[in-house]
Amino acid sequence: MAILLTGGAGYVGSHTALALLRAGHDVVVVDNLENSSAESMHRVEELAGRSLTFGQFDVRDTDRLGKLFADGSIDAVVHFAGLKAVGESVAEPLRYYANNIGATTSLLAAMDAAEVRQLVFSSSATVYGDGGEPEYVESMPRNPVNPYGQTKAMIERILEDVAASGRGFRFSILRYFNPVGADESGRIGEDPRGVPNNLVPFVAQVAVGRRPELLVFGDDYETADGTGVRDYIHVADLADGHLAALASMPAADRAVAYNLGVGRGWSVLDVVTAFEKACGRPIPRRVIGRRAGDLAACWANPAKARAELGWTARRSLDDACADAWRWQSANPSGYS
Ligand code: NAD
Ligand code: UFG
Repeated sequence: MAILLTGGAGYVGSHTALALLRAGHDVVVVDNLENSSAESMHRVEELAGRSLTFGQFDVRDTDRLGKLFADGSIDAVVHFAGLKAVGESVAEPLRYYANNIGATTSLLAAMDAAEVRQLVFSSSATVYGDGGEPEYVESMPRNPVNPYGQTKAMIERILEDVAASGRGFRFSILRYFNPVGADESGRIGEDPRGVPNNLVPFVAQVAVGRRPELLVFGDDYETADGTGVRDYIHVADLADGHLAALASMPAADRAVAYNLGVGRGWSVLDVVTAFEKACGRPIPRRVIGRRAGDLAACWANPAKARAELGWTARRSLDDACADAWRWQSANPSGYS
């Protein structure tokens, strides 16, 4: 198949591009490089030993998208493009709504015009919000607590409405838990701009000497060691989840959501211990107060993805830390 990846130069997109190329698919990427680098695409081509097609433009540019679809070669789309920093979304909600919702409606219009009606969407565990039970099941209500999460919940709703309109669309909605790690080559990985928001890239930058210490956001949660618990999923397993979703798309006029997670949680201190093992050096850390908006614990129930997509996470947290360290130590400043 020929697959269009919006936002395919980013962290999850670049690993998925590699997995698709390795599986023999053709890959077309559209990315405005707002939060990524074209270097990731060169490295994906080098690792796969095959080339992909890259267009640098905004997905909200429906005319350019239309031209891309015009030759009829694209079979399906994976829609990664979006802004994803929770704190930034609280400070700049309009930018988040305009980008994330606007990119999706632009893409759906171009797909409809070209009669391409299969889409896999990058959603997030953040759509569940603070619902009570820490183990999330797809049937739980959406209850996002910040503008970023709202954009994901709204896009899921848009996809459900478009599916129900009877035009033959098939939507697979993948709710990612916490993607971590890198391709085992260490050639591609997560390269956040500025101070990392997420735990593993921050720990990796401490390990490589770019930052003096990890700040642990609270150790007074009701968890085994008091620190926050999340479901950390290796990005290569997540990439495989997209291949599984493309191979088992829902029936026409259906939008179906799947959790992509391991199915268990690890604490902040578990992650630090695993990373120390991977890098062979201590990670200095200091406990400060809780981060606003954080939950104590959440993890996926991944049974639906296993049953309907035949997908399950195979790699361990130790694998993810070893791969993240290989990437970070070989590329201390990321792609630049
Ligand atoms: P990323 O920022 O590395 O990748 C997103 C890519 O989209 C970037 O390359 C960016 O330049 C591009 N982009 C953004 N807006 C665009 C637009 N309007 N037009 C064209 N390109 C645009 O993020 P990621 O971690 O790879 O995440 C991919 C998707 O998965 C996002 O939608 C994100 O919300 C979702 N997600 C990520 C996580 C996570 O923790 N990484 C968790 C859950 C869901
Ligand atoms: N943490 C620290 N110090 C840091 C960074 C994080 O202690 O410097 C802690 C957090 O408090 C939390 C855990 O590490 O307990 C994980 O935090 P992350 O920021 O890595 O991940 P979150 O679970 O908060 O959020 C991530 C993405 C969201 C996404 C969500 C669910 O950032 O975009 O997973 O998919 F919505």
